[in-house]
Amino acid sequence: MMISGRAGLAGVVGWPIAHSRSPQLHGHWLRRYRIDGAYVPMSVSPDRVEQALRALPLLGFRGCNVTVPHKRAALTVADTADAFAMRVGAVNTLTVGVDGALGGSNTDGFGFLESVRTGAPTWRPPAGPALVVGAGGAARAIVAALIDAGVPEIRLANRTLSRGKDLAADLGGPIVPVAWKERSAAADGAALLVNTTTLGMDGQPPLDLELTPLPVAAVVTDIVYTPLMTPLLSDAAARGNPVVDGLGMLLHQAVPGFATWFGVEPTVDAALRDAVLAG
Ligand code: ATR
Repeated sequence: MMISGRAGLAGVVGWPIAHSRSPQLHGHWLRRYRIDGAYVPMSVSPDRVEQALRALPLLGFRGCNVTVPHKRAALTVADTADAFAMRVGAVNTLTVGVDGALGGSNTDGFGFLESVRTGAPTWRPPAGPALVVGAGGAARAIVAALIDAGVPEIRLANRTLSRGKDLAADLGGPIVPVAWKERSAAADGAALLVNTTTLGMDGQPPLDLELTPLPVAAVVTDIVYTPLMTPLLSDAAARGNPVVDGLGMLLHQAVPGFATWFGVEPTVDAALRDAVLAG
């Protein structure tokens, strides 16, 4: 579809940005809904990110996504931020208001929950404890979303225990920091297991976790989506656990931004997955 002089503008700001799947994702929706708009990748170094984000309203952008390593900086730059973004300490979606102000939100937790809910429809948050592996930026959004959803206990296993404790202190709620050597034992009785680290990604070692203590009814999910079936997900599926791959979180986190910028509530479906995977 042609882009006219009236095209709505949005994009994604990161460093590096070439690997981002967001342009294919939003591009698919723009074509599907025949919207006169463009969604572009923007490669911005950390020392320029504040200037670049502040320029968006001047350039006529309706908003943008923000990815690694700029999510914390985007919270600082935003004129306003929603409560979830403030709690998590990071913004992944910026929207330019009618007055030109930058409004920040964080849709990563929403995207994670929607992905698990649609990928494993029988999972219920109160069903039992969750074991979350990792305590970085992604874990913050996921743990906050699990707390809000009503998960009764969140066992947080991180290689650096102090980071897990810091996250627990920041977010409050039913988080139990777990030492790295206890990570497998902490799977005992869990209803959900989430890998939020980069372990298992192409070129990285797999997550070393013994699944024997994990109930076979527990849902296992990963934020890594290259490959779609990480070693963790393959091992879990082989023993009968329901698994949800990491692509769903990426797809669902994009929905609120697109809806706000382009005025259409987009659908996450197989065609979208295929378009993003083909990119
Ligand atoms: P992000 O903000 O994208 O989540 P991050 O802040 O670098 O990224 O966090 C990466 C997570 O993966 C952390 O929990 C990290 O553990 P540490 O806090 O101990 O650094 C975890 N991680 C990365 N490589 C790891 C490895 N080889 N073994 C165990 N955990 C690892």
